[in-house]
Amino acid sequence: MTQLSTETLPFDVTTTEAVHLRAGGVSLVVDIAHGAMPSIVHWGSDLGPLSDLELRELIVATAPRRDNSVDVPVRVGVVPEASSGWLGAPGLQGHRSDGTAWSPKFSETEHEVQGATLISRGHDDQAGLDLTVELELTASGLLRARADVVNAGESDYFVDRLVVTLPVAPVAREILDQTGRWAKERIPQRRDITAGAHLRESRRGRTGADAATVLIAGERGFSFQNGEVWGLHVGWSGNHVSYVERHNNGLTLLGGGELLLPGEVALGAGEQYSTPWVYGAHGIGLDEQAQRFHSYLRSRKQHPSSVRPVTLNVWEAVYFDHRLDTLLELAQRASDVGIERYVLDDGWFRHRRRDNAGLGDWFVDEDVWPDGLAPLVDRVRELGMQFGLWFEPEMVNLDSDLARAHPDWILQTGGRLPPEARTQQVLNVAIPEAYEYLLDRISRLVDEYSIDYIKWDHNRDLIEPGAAQRGGAAGTHEQTHAVYQLLRELKRRHPDLEIESCSSGGARVDLGILEVTDRVWASDCIDPLERQHIQRWTAQLLPPELVGCHISGPRSHTTSRTHDLSFRATTALFGHFGVEWNIAEASERERAELAEWILLHKRFRHLIHTGRVVRPDVPDDEVTVSGVIAADGSEALFDIAMLGRPASWPPSAVRLPGLDPTRQYRVMAIGPDAPTAVDGATPAWQRPDGIVLSGRVLGRVGIQIPPLKPEHAALAHLVAV
Ligand code: GLA
Repeated sequence: MTQLSTETLPFDVTTTEAVHLRAGGVSLVVDIAHGAMPSIVHWGSDLGPLSDLELRELIVATAPRRDNSVDVPVRVGVVPEASSGWLGAPGLQGHRSDGTAWSPKFSETEHEVQGATLISRGHDDQAGLDLTVELELTASGLLRARADVVNAGESDYFVDRLVVTLPVAPVAREILDQTGRWAKERIPQRRDITAGAHLRESRRGRTGADAATVLIAGERGFSFQNGEVWGLHVGWSGNHVSYVERHNNGLTLLGGGELLLPGEVALGAGEQYSTPWVYGAHGIGLDEQAQRFHSYLRSRKQHPSSVRPVTLNVWEAVYFDHRLDTLLELAQRASDVGIERYVLDDGWFRHRRRDNAGLGDWFVDEDVWPDGLAPLVDRVRELGMQFGLWFEPEMVNLDSDLARAHPDWILQTGGRLPPEARTQQVLNVAIPEAYEYLLDRISRLVDEYSIDYIKWDHNRDLIEPGAAQRGGAAGTHEQTHAVYQLLRELKRRHPDLEIESCSSGGARVDLGILEVTDRVWASDCIDPLERQHIQRWTAQLLPPELVGCHISGPRSHTTSRTHDLSFRATTALFGHFGVEWNIAEASERERAELAEWILLHKRFRHLIHTGRVVRPDVPDDEVTVSGVIAADGSEALFDIAMLGRPASWPPSAVRLPGLDPTRQYRVMAIGPDAPTAVDGATPAWQRPDGIVLSGRVLGRVGIQIPPLKPEHAALAHLVAV
């Protein structure tokens, strides 16, 4: 029997057969009839208010039909069940040791709407399993789904996989997701949807530089502004899976969840396994889809609301060469140019003279820092800056006091160690003593130096992550939970502490880690040419204020390309802005120009960190345009970047979508050092008084792209008049 209890109904009609949730321009219609678990009938554009009758008709109109294989219409749930006749991958896969309970049928369902969430519970007596599915439509129209299974039987139940699936409309013809590698994260890749699955798995024990990030299915040719798209993101920092699957009945599903290693989750009687949150974002164009993620993130109560301090990170300035006088000089220079947060990177702790020793020994090195960090920290504070410190808590070098004292704390299957990576192994944070050690060491240092910010790094994949306390059984699942718990506990003890998620750059960028951290480091590559792409695609998930964007030295350490400060700064402007450059070695002129850029960022950071991200479609791949528009439409800032040399010249116009069509905007060039034109006239908007055009004209006709030299950028500032 299907029961429905409705405490509050802020949305739309709910009948005993269907639930219709509406928010932020999105409708979610869920079939809850037939005593079965929920099945999504429509997830996409808002259908407007539907009467009880219309909703019923919609369910009837879209009901599955029989084909010539199974004699009953096959209903595909959010967690698909083979027992319904479904021959695609089931959502829950598992079994007991005698081989039973491998194909459950959840009935005796109950459905409940709590606020914006539909919670459905089902039970299978014979299998001895309970399943709960939650579907929440957030105010921005972002869908969140998760499921949990409880072992209601006596014997152990092994969970091999539990994923949630979201159907996309048949108009979806193409897939877009991301891949990447160290220092080149978030590379988009595109292909057609064909029969079968496009499967993305991460077995790295971290999100991965090559993570799908948002796995998108959409209409042919969809772009930032056009084409209907549906995307899925798994909010999890351990192993995970996401896929697009097309069946020969025409159904296309997006699916995702945690990837469980063999035997990793064995539920004793009464125990429960929960999936991470899986996010579904619909949109007309990639910008609208991204906006659903951004608005949701900005609505969280832990979302950073204070001004994002301009940061100096000393890594590329000094690497492991920690000398107090140099670091003090950097602090002085930083404060002179307007920097607000000073971050001491790797190299401060015992035995850490190179990257092959010391990880795990979280004590200030007495040789390098005979008076502790106080002489530096005190000076940084006197200069009015916050202080941040680098840690890589989950890692250990074999050449460390910690590894020598506790070799059994290293993740391993037993009898052998996994191959090293960056000369390091991984600590088993799920061992209570290891967890306590890390918590204690980090907490003490945070207290001693009133640390404002931790750069929390994670520089290797987890290979053969066996848990010694369980005889070497697979341990990524509990490791991931233990790390989240450690971060949560640190934040509980130090409520003002901010934490950055870094993982060899951007290899831990996901909404799971962002529940317990405050920003990500997008990439170890700070070359602005690369960063234009990396930041553009990181924005598919994250708003600018959560993404660390720094100005490098003139010559990039990863690519050896050299760039003018104007291009480096314009590129870094659109994020959580900072500097990663030995500014003590920069010229007076460079420092003066840097100070101007920092001032410019401070002037615009409120707009950048609260506005709507827009990535106009551009006529040529050699040009990228991106910007932010104030929530009230009163102001906007666009970055027009010439990456290479377009085939047609002078470059054409670019439409600036998303402005208020009814308002007039003055468009003006802004920024210290506008880059030189190669030839041809400067566009009218770059002349001293700029131009005034309506939002409608700017959205439909646009402004001319300046004839910039390659690897240069220009800023357009728009103010409603
Ligand atoms: C990683 C990070 C860098 C830096 C180094 C320090 O590579 O991504 O930013 O902190 O570690 O070893």
